[in-house]
Amino acid sequence: MDITKLTETGEQCLMRTYARLPLALCRGEGSWVWDTEGKRYLDFVTGLAVTSLGHSHPEIVRVIREQAGLMLHSSNLYWNEPQVRLARTLTEHSFADRAFFCNSGAEANEGAIKLARKYAKKHYGEHKTKIISLRGSFHGRTLATVTATGQERYHKGYEPLPADFGYAERDDAAALEEVLDERTAAFFLEPVLGEGGVFPLSKEFMLAARNICAKKGILLVFDEVQVGMGRSGYLFAHEAYGVTPDVMTLAKALGNGIPIGAVLAGGQAAETFAPGDHASTFGGNLLAAAVATRVTEIMTEEGFLPDVREKSAWFAAELGKLARKAAIPGQVRGMGFMLGLPVGEAGPRIVESCRREGLLVNCVGGDTLRFLPPLTVSRAEMEEALDILDKVLGNT
Ligand SMILES: Cc1ncc(COP(=O)(O)O)c(C=O)c1O
Repeated sequence: MDITKLTETGEQCLMRTYARLPLALCRGEGSWVWDTEGKRYLDFVTGLAVTSLGHSHPEIVRVIREQAGLMLHSSNLYWNEPQVRLARTLTEHSFADRAFFCNSGAEANEGAIKLARKYAKKHYGEHKTKIISLRGSFHGRTLATVTATGQERYHKGYEPLPADFGYAERDDAAALEEVLDERTAAFFLEPVLGEGGVFPLSKEFMLAARNICAKKGILLVFDEVQVGMGRSGYLFAHEAYGVTPDVMTLAKALGNGIPIGAVLAGGQAAETFAPGDHASTFGGNLLAAAVATRVTEIMTEEGFLPDVREKSAWFAAELGKLARKAAIPGQVRGMGFMLGLPVGEAGPRIVESCRREGLLVNCVGGDTLRFLPPLTVSRAEMEEALDILDKVLGNT
């Protein structure tokens, strides 16, 4: 189907949840993707921070083929070895003692909300039910996670929203003491806000959150759905802050394109759920778990994460130089390979010009170009992306 026909048919039979660009991707290799017309692009979107090891990574293709030939799914009525191996791999590489697997970021956060309510009631009583998150955050689109998402535009039309959710201001450590009150069960944070515009939280704020939560018996939950799994230059972004949560959620890059989400918990929080408390039919099935284990193994191989830190620091510095050359007043911000450049209302136009020149980037918060290259991107590919940006920004 050519793109005109595809667009026309899609407009007729798909629900209108997305304002899509007139582009259909059908093949990928490493940092490159091809559309249905045969045009090649450098992929600095990576399916929204999902294909972090690049497209068609030979090891991931091998594991998918091998596991597909053995068994895809068996249900959580039984043990499955890939799931146990994945839980062991993730707990060995994190603060966590136990893992629960599901299928997406929203579902992971939904699970963490349920875990927090259950934990708080069990340890402190029926009154402790509030879930606090940050204004400007993004935690998903289910009814509970969209309520935790601190952006009103996502709430509109879905009221009444679930009760007992509240919001704190990003980086306002002084106000936290009051917002996180005795009725609070959990405080949800993205260490680097993603959809809200690529804002890394300050270390001071992260430390204040950790201290207040510990003091008041509040579970500190880090949503690392977007920034986790190597994107920050560390396996988990909180490692760079030296601040450990009680619970962490993952999804996106965990499966490099195979849908999987995870709730990881440490200490007493990890003991919250009993059989029957929570479940997911597909959660941690053999295919998703085998792939996610291999993804985690590759990302924790010696040299992988230092290389991400080195390459991303170089790219961020070069991006800063380009921005200054184009007289863009905003500063590059972010962490590792999750970078944002505020460009004002020209954002969508720049995205479109980059696309025409063969570079895929997207725009978040209405005014910020977001760069999410594969963690495996080469220096030559980064240079090519910068050349395209240089040309586009020069003409904007
Ligand atoms: C930080 C964060 N949490 C949760 C989600 C929701 O994930 P999903 O779309 O897989 O439900 C996203 C998606 O962008 C996200 O960036």
